[in-house]
Amino acid sequence: MILRILQWIVAQEWLMGMLGFLFGPFNPFTSKFRRDPYTVYRKMREEQPLYKSRVFMAHIATTYEDVQFVLRSKSFTTDRMNTDIMQAINKSIQKDPEFSAMVERNLLMLDGAEHRKLRGLVGKAFTPRRIEALREHIQARVDSLLDDMSVSEDVALIRDLAHPLPISVIVELLGLPHQDIPKFAAWSKYLAQLLDPLQATGGDAGIRKAVKELNAHLRPILEDRRKSPKDDLLSAMLAAEENGVKLDERDLLALVSLIMVAGHETTTNLIGNSVIELLRNPGERKRLQDDPSLIETAVDEFLRYCGSVMLTDRAAIEDCEVGGKKIRKGQMVVCVVAAANRDPAQFKNPEQLDLGRTENPHLGLGLGNHFCLGSQLAKLETEIVISTLLRRFPNFTGPTEPKDYVRSMILRGPQELPLDLATHSPERGPQLG
Ligand code: HEM
Repeated sequence: MILRILQWIVAQEWLMGMLGFLFGPFNPFTSKFRRDPYTVYRKMREEQPLYKSRVFMAHIATTYEDVQFVLRSKSFTTDRMNTDIMQAINKSIQKDPEFSAMVERNLLMLDGAEHRKLRGLVGKAFTPRRIEALREHIQARVDSLLDDMSVSEDVALIRDLAHPLPISVIVELLGLPHQDIPKFAAWSKYLAQLLDPLQATGGDAGIRKAVKELNAHLRPILEDRRKSPKDDLLSAMLAAEENGVKLDERDLLALVSLIMVAGHETTTNLIGNSVIELLRNPGERKRLQDDPSLIETAVDEFLRYCGSVMLTDRAAIEDCEVGGKKIRKGQMVVCVVAAANRDPAQFKNPEQLDLGRTENPHLGLGLGNHFCLGSQLAKLETEIVISTLLRRFPNFTGPTEPKDYVRSMILRGPQELPLDLATHSPERGPQLG
């Protein structure tokens, strides 16, 4: 109920605007902020690099040095279970053991030995070889989605390509039945609300229902893979073992949910942002079209310049100092990776998109112990989408500004982006000069 009320309040843009004085420089609940968070972050980085937000009861770190320090520091944890805000939420989730297991056994929330154990076991299954083996599947899926788009009168990048692709790749990776993709897509939509519950709608009932249904769907599949393993991530996770320890059913179910949460909309939004930047920067687009071998540095540059994950957070486990400021035990620090990624103290010409940038230690996939487990997959998907789009439809056009961005302070990406693929496409007719 409290969550529903908070969600309603946050959704009232006029109210959020009026309450601007409470938020100070960091008010992520307005459409103005969603359109251009980078100007706000630049100002914060220059003027109040570790801003103490009363509303969020947290320090907001915006310099590369501070964000990097916190993400690496042993004085901070991702185990937010003991922070005031989680204690309150906990009271409600403890009533629901399935939901509570999914939140508490989530890699992103665990730390120390428990995290090392779980990450070590998943790492054994989530191997570079397994991801590389998905290349053909991803290419075939992208081609088939683009085939459909090329004969459609109404092409929408997110609906037709950036949204359906990642869920089908996750389903393939896990070895789940393809005919169930629509169900997984629906569950994934609810699970994704966990990333930013305040900006979701409908309280947490939808998320709880999705967790229950997904778990009920997965249990017999897990049982089947236990008896007859296949060459898929589910079977590999079931087999993974370290010092005689294996992943139990509770951890496996939590991991599948996390992979859906962490691997779906993050990728959708990165694809959306990357296409917008190609439309905004015709010189860089031509550079990549002329030299497709730049695709790897290009995707890293998209992750730096217009990444889909804006921020993450950590809680202090002891009194410490960040950027010369004292942080007390239990206090939260919000690490704005999007601001750090444009810090001139770290990057040359940070406000410029440079698809050939070679020195690019961006934080778009995190840093330290919780560095993105799916980084290789995220990059592979984005590389294939962008290369194929540019190769097959070199003259595609579209707006350089979407109507709106997704309502989230964690994720950033266009809600939708209509594209015109047909004009001058080599598949449809002669190319432009
Ligand atoms: C463009 C796409 C993606 C972006 C921008 C992204 C970004 C990130 C970031 C920033 C973190 C660190 C969070 C933190 O430190 O609090 C993270 C963690 C994680 N990501 Fe990704 N991610 C993407 C795609 C994926 C994919 C495709 C998967 C899996 C299929 C995935 C699975 C995970 C997991 C499991 C973690 C937690 C790791 C841990 O806590 O040890 N991500 N991701």
